[in-house]
Amino acid sequence: MRVYNQTEVANLSGVTKNYGLLCALSSIDLSLESAKIVALLGPNGAGKTTAVKLLLGLLKPSNGEVSVFGAHPQEPKTRERMGAMLQSASVPDMLRVREHIDLFSSYYPRPLELADTITRAGLERLENRYYRDLSGGEQRRLMFALAICGDPDLLFLDEPTTGLDIESRRGMWAQIRTLRSAGKTVLLTTHYLEEADQLADRIVVLKRGKVAADGTPYQIKCAGNSETMDDAFLNLTAN
Ligand SMILES: Nc1ncnc2c1ncn2[C@@H]1O[C@H](COP(=O)(O)OP(=O)(O)OP(=O)(O)O)[C@@H](O)[C@H]1O
Ligand SMILES: [Mg+2]
Repeated sequence: MRVYNQTEVANLSGVTKNYGLLCALSSIDLSLESAKIVALLGPNGAGKTTAVKLLLGLLKPSNGEVSVFGAHPQEPKTRERMGAMLQSASVPDMLRVREHIDLFSSYYPRPLELADTITRAGLERLENRYYRDLSGGEQRRLMFALAICGDPDLLFLDEPTTGLDIESRRGMWAQIRTLRSAGKTVLLTTHYLEEADQLADRIVVLKRGKVAADGTPYQIKCAGNSETMDDAFLNLTAN
């Protein structure tokens, strides 16, 4: 049996996930430590969203073990400590921004104040707008608000900054760093490698369902034999 480490927040241990004949993750180990930002990188189809959904308890592994805060991810006590922004999420069009945030906040025992969530997500002056009337970037910011409104200890952000303008992206980076300072753990996926380089304490590179590299941004660049994250990534994930 594995020994549960105090700083370990979540763990995939020998996890395989098959979708029919397709093997999306193949016997991977991934451990998340508290108060760290981890970036999960990989080409399209590498298995990033699958890993996130396994940790959230939205998918069951075909093999191996998933644990979050030492328990099953679907335990109510575990779920109320997690927040997530999924890649393909949709919410009802006919609710206003503030109504969405109120609804999500009600799922958690100690949510943030509405005004705090609004500010952190950069949604000032949009509280009364219907979801369907938000721009693409504003919709992403609402999804970020829904991920953080429960003040979770563990946050999953699946491509959070896709489609955001540069100011909003930098704003979200600042919020993610603030969360880390408050002791929160963040697992994010991104195709913006500069984002991973700037934000992450640790980068895990997936290649066709396996871990191709795992280390600090500097270690990843060394392993990928380049001074730039883009080239290191291409070298690490080349066929
Ligand atoms: N429900 C499903 N049924 C069948 N295959 C699936 C399913 N979900 C994902 N896959 C496949 O599993 C593989 C991994 O998908 P996943 O969504 O985890 O990739 P990803 O790394 O998040 O990619 P992207 O960068 O494009 O978001 C892909 O080949 C995908 O087509
Ligand atoms: Mg994905």
